[in-house]
Amino acid sequence: MQKFIIVGGGARGIFFSEILENELNCKVVAIMDSFVEGNPFIEARLKDAKIEGVEIFNDIELMLEKYPSDKVDGAFIMTPEWTHLSVFKRLTQSNYNIFLEKPIATTKEAILEIGEIAKNYSKVIQVGFVMRYSPFYRKIKSWIAENDLGRITQIQMNERLTVVHGTKFKRSWHRMKEYTGGFMNEKCSHDLDMMCWIKSNDAKPIGVMSMGSRTFARESVGQVSCSTCPDKKCIYREDITQYAKYHDGKVLLDKTAGGVNECIYGNTSDINDSQTVMVLFDDNTHGIFNVISMSGKDGRDIMIHFEYGLIFGDLEEGNLTKMDYRRNQTEKYYISGMNFHGGGDTQVVKEFTECIINQTKPVASVEDGLRASLLSFCADESIETKVFVELT
Ligand SMILES: NC(=O)c1ccc[n+]([C@@H]2O[C@H](COP(=O)([O-])OP(=O)(O)OC[C@H]3O[C@@H](n4cnc5c(N)ncnc54)[C@H](O)[C@@H]3O)[C@@H](O)[C@H]2O)c1
Repeated sequence: MQKFIIVGGGARGIFFSEILENELNCKVVAIMDSFVEGNPFIEARLKDAKIEGVEIFNDIELMLEKYPSDKVDGAFIMTPEWTHLSVFKRLTQSNYNIFLEKPIATTKEAILEIGEIAKNYSKVIQVGFVMRYSPFYRKIKSWIAENDLGRITQIQMNERLTVVHGTKFKRSWHRMKEYTGGFMNEKCSHDLDMMCWIKSNDAKPIGVMSMGSRTFARESVGQVSCSTCPDKKCIYREDITQYAKYHDGKVLLDKTAGGVNECIYGNTSDINDSQTVMVLFDDNTHGIFNVISMSGKDGRDIMIHFEYGLIFGDLEEGNLTKMDYRRNQTEKYYISGMNFHGGGDTQVVKEFTECIINQTKPVASVEDGLRASLLSFCADESIETKVFVELT
C-alpha cells in the first residue's frame, strides 16, 4: 500500500486524503499544517471521513524527520499558493515525489525558481491541473487526435461562478493578489492551461491581451459584517456552512482568512471578478477565455473551431458534440456522473500514484504550471497597460 504525507490540512488537503484513503486504497500517514488552532478541524474532518491513523504535525521538519522520502511514496503540497515555493524547495531538498497544487506560485520570480529546480529533479512532480484528467476534456483531446477536422482556427472558453461561489473569492485569502497572484492565476490558470493543452499539437502561445476589473459590490454600504447587517436579503450575504472549512458551527480561520463574515461591499479584496483573455498562438490563430464570478448559471463551456469542423460542449451538463463538415457527420457524446472538476480529482491523484510506481512523466508538469501562471500574469499586466503583452 502506498503511503503519503500532506502539507496543508485545509479544504484540498482533506479532500485529497479522502480520495487517497477511501477511493485509492492508499494511506495518509501524516498531515502537516502550520496553523495550530486548526488541528481540531483536521481531526474532526478526518473522523467524519472515517480516516484513522493520521499523525498531525504543525512543524514540517518534525514530519519530514519521521517520514523521510525513503519511508513514504510521496508528498502533497496543499497549502495556499503564496507558500508553495518554500514548501516545494524544502521537499525537493529531501527528494520526495511531489504533487504540487495549482497555481504553482504567485509571482514571476517564484514560478521561475520552481521551474529551475524542476528541470534537474529526477523524482516525479505533478501539478494539480485536474481538468486535464477529466473524461470531458480527455474526450475532446482524443477527438482532436483523430486529426480529421484540420487545424484549430479558434477556441472559445467560458467559466461562470455562481453568486455564492463568486463571493467566496471576495473573502478569505483568495480575495487578495498578495496571496494568489491575481484571480486569473488563482482560479483560471486551469483554463489557460487547458487552452494551451488543446492547442499543443498545432502551436504555442506567444502573448495575450486582456480586460478585467472588479465589477460588483464595489462601494461600501456602511456595513462591516453579515451578522450585524440588517439587510437579510442581500445576495452576497455569507452562508458559513458553504465553506469547505466549515465544521460544527465554525469555519477554520488562519491569519490570512480575514473576510469571513465580512460585508463584501467595498471590502479589502483587490482581485478582478470579471476578466477576458485573448491568447495569440504562434500559428497566428487565437483563443478567447472569459470568466465572470457572479452568474445565475455556473459552469464551464467550450467551443473549438477547426478548418473542417467544430467541437463544443458543456462541462457541467456532460454534453459534447463533434461536427465534421466534410463528411456531413455529427457525433454526440454524453458523460454522466462527473463529480467536481468534471471528474478529474480522483483521476489526478490516481495517476500521480501510478507515475510514482512507474517513474513516468505526469500529464500535468511544472512546465505547464509555469506557462499557465505566466499567461495569467501577462493578462493582468495587459489590463494595466491596455496593450498586448508578449510571453517572454
Ligand atoms: N486543482 C484545483 O482544482 C484546486 C481547487 C481548489 C484549490 N486549489 C489549490 O489548492 C491549494 C490549497 O487550497 P485550499 O482550498 O485547500 O486552501 P485552504 O485555505 O482551505 O487550506 C490551506 C491550508 O494550508 C495551511 N497552511 C498555510 N500555510 C502553510 C504552510 N506554510 N505550511 C503548512 N500549512 C500551511 C492553512 O492553515 C490551511 O489549513 C491552493 O493553492 C489552491 O489554489 C486547487
